[in-house]
Amino acid sequence: MWLSPHWDAERHLSHPPGPDEVRELFKAEPEAKGMLLVTPNDYGTCGDIQAIAEVCHEFGKPLIVDEAWGAHLPFHPDLPPWGMDADADVVVTSVHKSGAAVEQSSVFHLQGDLVDPNVLKAREDLLATTSPTSLVYATLDGWLRHMVQHGKELLTATLALAHSTRAAINDLTGLRVMGEAEFLGEELAKSPDPLKMVIDVSALDISGYQATDWLREHQRVTLGLSDHRRVVAQFTHADDHRTAGILLDALSALVKAADDFETPPPVDLPSSDELQLETVMLPRDAFFAEVEQVDADQAVGRISAEMVTPYPPGAPAVLPGEVITKEVVDYVRSGLNAGMELPDPADSELKSFRVVARKP
Ligand SMILES: Cc1ncc(COP(=O)(O)O)c(C=O)c1O
Repeated sequence: MWLSPHWDAERHLSHPPGPDEVRELFKAEPEAKGMLLVTPNDYGTCGDIQAIAEVCHEFGKPLIVDEAWGAHLPFHPDLPPWGMDADADVVVTSVHKSGAAVEQSSVFHLQGDLVDPNVLKAREDLLATTSPTSLVYATLDGWLRHMVQHGKELLTATLALAHSTRAAINDLTGLRVMGEAEFLGEELAKSPDPLKMVIDVSALDISGYQATDWLREHQRVTLGLSDHRRVVAQFTHADDHRTAGILLDALSALVKAADDFETPPPVDLPSSDELQLETVMLPRDAFFAEVEQVDADQAVGRISAEMVTPYPPGAPAVLPGEVITKEVVDYVRSGLNAGMELPDPADSELKSFRVVARKP
């Protein structure tokens, strides 16, 4: 079962859920085996892992944290706490994302006695390659040594750099770096990753998709994430004044060029309720069911047999087993037209959808 994230309707942005919702769900679903929490999310907003771990442990359930974006968190006290320090049972981290190992360097950490190490090892064995590259191990070891020896000093410099760059971006007309004021609150996030620059470009009357395309084509600057109104840049321990300067120069050029951009195609953004699709089949059953490919208008009311995920940030809009609605079809099709990346669906043009042959 899914736990809804905290939803900021004004900014159309979600944050990790809080401990009260976790408690309610465990009460309602006592059969649940544990909890999987994604924090930080792709926008760098973090949930209250400690409080959620306490709730999970009250019910004797393990907390697994998808900390793909948190490889740097253990190495500086001014960063949000990482899962192992906040009593999670398992933490999975992509060291290639905000750390410095080569791609595919994802690792997991385990503590406590709620997850049997032999079971975890057996699961890992099922999924892992039998031909790992020594580059992965070498760069993981190198990164760990580097961070243990110099991480705090390097990240102190990065935090200062991120702080001054944030102020400089805010001085550019039409750009605003989102931060604590927008992200934090009882119904929002617990803490922000200060190394993420979530830059709102909507005052330039352009979309985040247009901004990233233009920055890549004209400034040779590639950003990690864009959506209908924002772009996100990530600072790491490897950044310095030179790289921050490249970002600032590119953004200044964007501000000047934006006047000549065409009006961005509108994205039909659904409300948070409209994003909650009804699950009528287990995702696995729907994925392996007999399927057919139907035109987009015929897909409304049918059970999806595929994921439809705007990526990044990679939170699925539709999952196998969910009933497709008009609102979500309009959302992903208008998003695609506006520049959203949707890598999953069988029909990459979204003229048709892969649905379970049996009607609900
Ligand atoms: C939140 C989150 N979890 C997991 C992953 C997958 O990580 P990896 O590419 O290391 O397998 C991603 C990738 O973008 C992610 O954003």
